Amino acid sequence: MREYLIHDEWNIIEEGFQPENHKSSESIFSLGNGKMGQRANFEETYTGPTLQGSYVAGIYYPDKTRVGWWKNGYPEYFAKVLNSPNWIGIDVQIDGHFLDLYTCKTENFRRVLNMQEGFLLREFTAIMDDGKKVAVTAKRFVSMADTEIGAIRYSVTPLNFEGKISFTPYLDGDVENEDSNYDEKFWNLIDMEAHSGEAYIVTETKKLGFRAGFGMMTKTFIQGVEVKIQPEIMKKEAWVGNRFEKEVKEGEEFSIEKIVGVTSSLNYSKNDILVATKKSTKAGFDKGFDQLFSSHSNEWKQKWVHSDIKIEGDIAAQQGIRFNIFHLHQTYTGEDERLNVGPKGFTGEKYGGSTYWDTEAYCIPFFISTAPSNVTRNLLIYRYKQLDKAIENAEKLGFKDGAALYPMVTMNGEECHNEWEITFEEIHRNGAIAFAIHNYIRHTNDFKYLEEYGLEVLIGISRFWSQRVNWSGEKKKYVMLGVTGPNEYENNINNNWYTNKMATWCMKYTTEAIAKVKQNNADAFNQICNKTNFKAEVELAKWKEITDQMYFPFNEEINVFMQQDGYMDKEHILVKDLDPKQRPINQYWSWDRILRSCYIKQADTLQGIYVLEEEFDLETIKRNFEFYEPRTVHESSLSPCVHSILAAKIGLTDKAYEMYLRTSRLDIDDYNHEAHEGLHITSMAGTWMSVVEGFGGKRVYDGKLYLNPIIPKQWKKYAFRLTFMNNDLEVIVSKDKIEVVSHSDNPIELYVYGKLIKAEPHQIVETEAH
Ligand code: BGC
Repeated sequence: MREYLIHDEWNIIEEGFQPENHKSSESIFSLGNGKMGQRANFEETYTGPTLQGSYVAGIYYPDKTRVGWWKNGYPEYFAKVLNSPNWIGIDVQIDGHFLDLYTCKTENFRRVLNMQEGFLLREFTAIMDDGKKVAVTAKRFVSMADTEIGAIRYSVTPLNFEGKISFTPYLDGDVENEDSNYDEKFWNLIDMEAHSGEAYIVTETKKLGFRAGFGMMTKTFIQGVEVKIQPEIMKKEAWVGNRFEKEVKEGEEFSIEKIVGVTSSLNYSKNDILVATKKSTKAGFDKGFDQLFSSHSNEWKQKWVHSDIKIEGDIAAQQGIRFNIFHLHQTYTGEDERLNVGPKGFTGEKYGGSTYWDTEAYCIPFFISTAPSNVTRNLLIYRYKQLDKAIENAEKLGFKDGAALYPMVTMNGEECHNEWEITFEEIHRNGAIAFAIHNYIRHTNDFKYLEEYGLEVLIGISRFWSQRVNWSGEKKKYVMLGVTGPNEYENNINNNWYTNKMATWCMKYTTEAIAKVKQNNADAFNQICNKTNFKAEVELAKWKEITDQMYFPFNEEINVFMQQDGYMDKEHILVKDLDPKQRPINQYWSWDRILRSCYIKQADTLQGIYVLEEEFDLETIKRNFEFYEPRTVHESSLSPCVHSILAAKIGLTDKAYEMYLRTSRLDIDDYNHEAHEGLHITSMAGTWMSVVEGFGGKRVYDGKLYLNPIIPKQWKKYAFRLTFMNNDLEVIVSKDKIEVVSHSDNPIELYVYGKLIKAEPHQIVETEAH
C-alpha cells in the first residue's frame, strides 16, 4: 500500500511533490468526459518518469500478434488503446530556463482533484537553479458539457525577481505508446497549421486510419486583465505552437488560457476533421474558460444528484466511493452505443481492448441504477450489434448453427486478446452477457428489448453452451472440459462450477425468454426464428436435456461446491499463512507456481453464488464463503467487491467493511502496486455495488425491489440514490432508522427487511433499522 494522499470528502489531495509517486498520481488525478481522457501529466516540461496519456474514445491500433507458435483460431491482432497527440503541453521558461519539476526545487506543492466540479488544480512554488522563485497555479478540465473541449488556465508569478517569462502552448503529434513493441509510432501526420494565437494538427492512425484533430486557441493575461502579446509562431515535425514572452514584474501574475478542441473520425468524415476541429475550438474559445467551466460544473452537479453516495462519519470511505463514481462517469456517459467501458478507461494503456465481461458483470449494475435506462440499453445494444462477429468467432473455433461466443476482449466485436487460455477458455463471459439482459429487464420491465434485440443474443449464447458441453460416459452427466473460470490463476480446468452454472442458467433463461416473447408477440418470435433459423422443438429439448443432467462438482465431506474437478488435490495453505513479503503473488511467484497453488485470484465459485444468490440458502452461502475467501488473494480488482457483498449478506459486517475499503481505495492507496499503469475503472462499479447491494442489501427479484440495510460500525449514516422502473428514490440508512425518499411522480413500492413499503410521490417513509 502507498498512503500518500490526504483524506477529504470531495477532493483527492497530494501535498509535497515526490517524483516516485508521480506516475500513480498521473493515473489517480486523470480527467475525462466519455469522449476523451487525459492522465494528470504536467503541462510544462517534465524530464522525470512519466506515462504520457491522452486518449480519444474508440481509437485503437491492431498490433501484430503473430508468433512462431501460432495456433489455429488465434486472433489476428491485439488491440491497443493509443496515446494520442498531446494537447495539454505548455512549456514555461523563466528568464530562458525551462521550468521542470524533476530538476528544480518545489515548495508548497499541492495537487487537487476536485470531484464535485470535475477539475484538476496544481499549485506550487518553484525555485530555479539561480534562486529565482515563481508561484505557479494550473487548473484544467475536460468538459462534460462541451464534450469536444479541454481547457487550461496556467499562471506564473515571479516572487523575488522581475524578468522574462514565456509560455509556449503547443500541440504535439509526435507521440508514442509505452507498450509499443518495437518503438513503433502509431500516428501519421495529415495536416498542421500554426497562426498567431491558434494552431491545429490532424493525425491519422496507422493501419486502421482513424483520424483525430486537435486545435488550440489562447489568451494571455497580466493580473487577470487580457494582454495582447505577439507570439513567435512555431512549427516542428508534427508539432505546432506559439511562444508568448513577457517582461513580468515581481508579484505580478502572468497567465495563459488554452482552449482545445478535439474531434475524431468517429464523429466526422475524415476530410472534414480540420474544419470541424477549427469550429469546435473557436466555439469553445468564444465561450471562454469561465463560461465553459460553469456549464461543465453544472453537468457534474446533475451527475452527483443521481449517483452520489453520502457516508457520514468515515472520510476515507466517503472519499473512496466518490472517487469511484467520479471516474466511472468520466469514462462512460452512455450517449454513444459504439463505445464501452475499458478496464482502465482513459487512465492508462494496459488492457488495450476496450470491452471485457467487466462491463456486463460490474458496470451494468451501476448504470442500471444510477442512469436513465437508455445508458444500459446502449451497452446491451453494443453487444447485439456484435452478434454476427460473435457467431463468426465461434465458427472459427469449430462451433456451428448460429452458436455465438463473444470475445473476451474486443474493440469492434472481434477477439483481440491472444492468450489461448483466456481467448479460448474463459468462456464464462458469455454468461455475464446473457445475465445482463435479464438484469436490465428485471429493473425496467422493458420486454420490448427481448423482442427487438435480446432474444437473438440469448439464442446464440445458449447454442454455444449446448455445443460446448459433452456427455461423460463415466459421470453419466454433461460436463464442460478445458475452461478457465473467473479465477485466472487456474487454466484448462474441467467443470468449473461457475461456468457450468452460468451455462445452465443461460439455457434455462433463454427458454423462459422464448416463451415470453412468443406469448407477447408471436409475429416477432416467428421473425426471430426465421432470422436465426431456430428449430424451437429440437433446440429447446436439447437444452432441457443438458440442464437436467449437468454435472456440478461438489465436495460432500465439507459440503461446498468445488471450484473445479480436482481442486481438493492441491496443497491447502491459507492466504493468511503466506509470507506477506511474497504478495501480491503475481509479482513474486512464477506463473507455474501460481497455477499449481490453491490460491484464487478473484471470486469464482463465489461469483456464481453472488450472481444467482436466490438459488442458495444462507447456510450454503456462509459455508462456501468461509471456505473460499481464506484462499483468495484478491489480485484482481474485481474481487473484493463481490466478497464485500456476500460478507454483508451473511452478517460478517467487519469483513464486508474491510473489503469495501479495499475495493473503494484500491487505487487511491495502491493496494496492488499498479496504480501507475492506470486505474481499475470497471471494478469501481463493483465498489458502488458493495455499498448498495452489500450494506444496502438491494436486490431485485421478479420485478420487485428489496432492501435489507445494515450499517458498518464506523459509519453514522449513509445514503444512496436508485433508479428503479424509471422511478427515482433515495435511501438513507442510519443506526436506528431507514428513510426511503421518493423523488418520483409515481408511487413506489419496495420491500424493506421483507416488509412492503409504499412511498407516495415525493414523500418520505421511515422504518426502524434492524
Ligand atoms: C481479471 C478479469 C478481467 C480483466 C480486466 C483481469 O485481471 O482477471 O476478470 O476481465 O482483468 O479487468
